[in-house]
Amino acid sequence: MQPKSKDILNDEDDYSDISLRLMDVNDIDDFMVWATDDKVSRYCTWSTYTSKEQAMDFFTNIVAPHPWLRAICLRNRAIGSISVTPFEGSDACRGELGYVLASKYWGKGIVTRAVKKVASVIFAEWPHLERLEALVDVDNAGSQRVLQKAGFQREGVLRKYVIQKGRTRDMVIFSLLSSEITQS
Ligand SMILES: CC(C)(COP(=O)(O)OP(=O)(O)OC[C@H]1O[C@@H](n2cnc3c(N)ncnc32)[C@H](O)[C@@H]1OP(=O)(O)O)[C@@H](O)C(=O)NCCC(=O)NCCS
Repeated sequence: MQPKSKDILNDEDDYSDISLRLMDVNDIDDFMVWATDDKVSRYCTWSTYTSKEQAMDFFTNIVAPHPWLRAICLRNRAIGSISVTPFEGSDACRGELGYVLASKYWGKGIVTRAVKKVASVIFAEWPHLERLEALVDVDNAGSQRVLQKAGFQREGVLRKYVIQKGRTRDMVIFSLLSSEITQS
């Protein structure tokens, strides 16, 4: 039997050993750990989840049809997620990166490693993609630091750009180009 989510964290865990895999409805209890956490949703457009039914809707309507969404895993248990959402038509050269991590794992370099993993595969998987971009709330210093550490360029501030929980927010825009990826 798998341990419950709260039992994932052990002293011997190697936080450099994270993996990305498809997320499905079997991950719903682990998803609830971060989706019901106000600390996690604070700078996100979505509101903190309050029921498993809401989570089920998310898995059905967003996760299942999503073109590129992965669970960030520690020993194959989902502790967060990361996605690239493509744009269409004349914007098809771009994809938008998004990520979220359960709060008890913050500050261990996990999302930086996940972003680097995504950047190393997405341009090969989607050869038409030339630019991976991310929009971050001006006050979300941790997320801005992640992108900086992963090699993204800070391009500027988009003023009054997104309504988050009724407040219109300035967003910092970051990008990484396919031409900036070094093959090792
Ligand atoms: C933002 C988030 C993804 C970071 O994930 P993480 O795995 O903790 O990030 P990392 O450990 O790889 O790096 C975080 C960096 O930010 C720094 N940091 C964190 N909070 C900070 C703060 N308030 N001020 C300044 N720096 C901060 C850390 O010190 C670290 O930098 P360092 O390695 O130079 O010390 C995670 O906190 C999260 O899921 N937040 C909620 C959801 C969210 O905001 N998603 C992004 C939406 S754009």
